[in-house]
Amino acid sequence: MTDIGGAAFPAGRQRRLRRTPALRRLVADVRLDPAGLVLPLFVKEGISAPNPIGSMPGVVQHTRDSVRKAAHEAAAAGVGGLILFGIPATKDARGSGADDPDGIVQLALGDVLSEVGDTTVVMTDLCLDEYTDHGHCGLLTDDGEVDNDATLERYASAALAQARAGSQVVAPSGMMDGQVAAIRSALDGAGFSGTPILAYSAKYASAFYGPFREAAECAPQFGDRSSYQQDPARATSEGVREALLDIAEGADAVMVKPAMSYLDVVRAVAEAVDVPVAAYQVSGEYAMVEAAAAHGWIDRRRIILETLTGIRRAGAGMVLTYWATEAAGWLREA
Ligand code: PBG
Repeated sequence: MTDIGGAAFPAGRQRRLRRTPALRRLVADVRLDPAGLVLPLFVKEGISAPNPIGSMPGVVQHTRDSVRKAAHEAAAAGVGGLILFGIPATKDARGSGADDPDGIVQLALGDVLSEVGDTTVVMTDLCLDEYTDHGHCGLLTDDGEVDNDATLERYASAALAQARAGSQVVAPSGMMDGQVAAIRSALDGAGFSGTPILAYSAKYASAFYGPFREAAECAPQFGDRSSYQQDPARATSEGVREALLDIAEGADAVMVKPAMSYLDVVRAVAEAVDVPVAAYQVSGEYAMVEAAAAHGWIDRRRIILETLTGIRRAGAGMVLTYWATEAAGWLREA
């Protein structure tokens, strides 16, 4: 017997269960399942062929036609959900494309829903940054600040446009205070009390969003998002508080974002809440792995599965990842 801090353990117990693949498989606590993966998809208005994103090899801005195909492949691989991001052909200060019934996401939703039916869940990201010419997530005051309460009305209107177009889950990502309550009351008031809200609750002002801003053409034209997204240097408990506030406002599920540098927040939120918890493995996380893999410096497939396992082990039931379809394929082979 070995004595560790007062407790006695039988020597050798650690390695015995690692001896064979079958033993390791039997005792695994974390099992990856395609049903827990969510694939983000970008669809751009007015393009005739998919447009590769330089900083995200393998990810494209889709046409209405190609997004349909990508949605079909994901659903066929068993991916649990899709989340659509729209990139309008023209932008303005109020992000008019976000709540236009003929806006790109609303149109793509119809296409994707008719393609996948009920085989997966079709969600929509709800924000203004893809739609505003200044690239911020809300309306601006004359001083160039993001106006919290004026923005809430725009989010409520975008939520209705998405719900009317058939969105099965709306996912507000703008980090305005009160956004979940505003969206919930707009949805309820228009007969969409059955539409769930997946809140991007603990969302940090992160450099890991860099490649996404190329993909969604939404880099802020001045300043940054630090006045509304969370400061990475705040304590873990701030992320928990954001999640609890969103739940109190009516969120049905909460998200932590990014994932890998915020696994403490994922763990703390998972322990504090009783709603489903998602984590978003964001564009910069994707780009780093793809770049290292392209150099032959890492084993791409093993690393992808290891990152997903780590995020699940931290407590996320759902993981948003650009590898969702590919990973689902591997998990089905295994
Ligand atoms: C905002 C939004 C962002 C991401 C998802 N929703 C960007 C931002 O806040 O700047 C980032 C996702 C990623 O990096 O993969 N609409």
